[in-house]
Amino acid sequence: MNPQDRAYELVNGFRAAQVVRAAVELKIPDLVAGGAMSAEQLSAATQIDVDRLRRLLRGLVALGVLEQGDDHRLANTEVGELFREGIPGSRRPQARMLIPESYRDWDHLMETLRTGVPGHKLAHRGTLWQTIARDPDFAARFNDAMAGNSEQVVDLVAGLDLAGARLIVDVGGGEGALVGGVLRAHPHLRGIVCDLPAGLAETHQYLAGLGVANRCTTVECDFFVSVPSGGDVYLLKDILHDWDDEHAGAILSICRRAARPGARILIV
Ligand SMILES: C[S@@+](CC[C@H](N)C(=O)[O-])C[C@H]1O[C@@H](n2cnc3c(N)ncnc32)[C@H](O)[C@@H]1O
Repeated sequence: MNPQDRAYELVNGFRAAQVVRAAVELKIPDLVAGGAMSAEQLSAATQIDVDRLRRLLRGLVALGVLEQGDDHRLANTEVGELFREGIPGSRRPQARMLIPESYRDWDHLMETLRTGVPGHKLAHRGTLWQTIARDPDFAARFNDAMAGNSEQVVDLVAGLDLAGARLIVDVGGGEGALVGGVLRAHPHLRGIVCDLPAGLAETHQYLAGLGVANRCTTVECDFFVSVPSGGDVYLLKDILHDWDDEHAGAILSICRRAARPGARILIV
């Protein structure tokens, strides 16, 4: 791509994100997964006016999410496949979490640069965790997106030597995708997912889906106050980056105090 086009693409990125989000909300990648569909068929399935929908579909073709055959029917590209619901590595949860809420946060980047106030606070009048606590729909989308990210690194953690461990604690573990995946690979282990109440809303269901709910419990906690004690391994995935050094240090100290002697803290 020449520099002119690349520069234009960069300032246009916000439109691409919204086009992808609309496609995901309308489940277009799921609809065409069963076989290529015409714009008219997709219009009937999504209840969106065919003329307006065609404009969106053309955008999706231009962005490489869909491809159009000689018969004008539309199918997923390899990228489009990744926006389907429930497939391994799906980016659908990220599209449903990042674009609606983060989009508004990032609109405040200039003010954040000038003042240091996080964009989320400026856009939502509270911290991310306060928004999540009062908005169960956002909480569910957030937790799903986190689980999707965690599924990508289960093999990395499950591949460690965990033979000497018995109890693994997933601190701020959300749906428990990481500890759940590790438990599935290591039948001798038991687990605990500790998190704020909103983080745990779907955890039992997720763990049951993995078939490990009988070996993994959930505990509500504030990790600045306490985390479950007696663990041999404490997992902190996508936790420390949310905080400044003082808070990150406090979380680590709380984990160290709770851990068995010789326990390991794994930071992802
Ligand atoms: C970025 S998410 C990561 C979730 C999970 N570890 C993963 O990687 O899939 C951060 C998690 O920290 C939790 N959290 C935030 N503040 C917390 C607190 N004070 N005490 C316990 N958990 C907290 C959130 O609810 C959320 O589940």
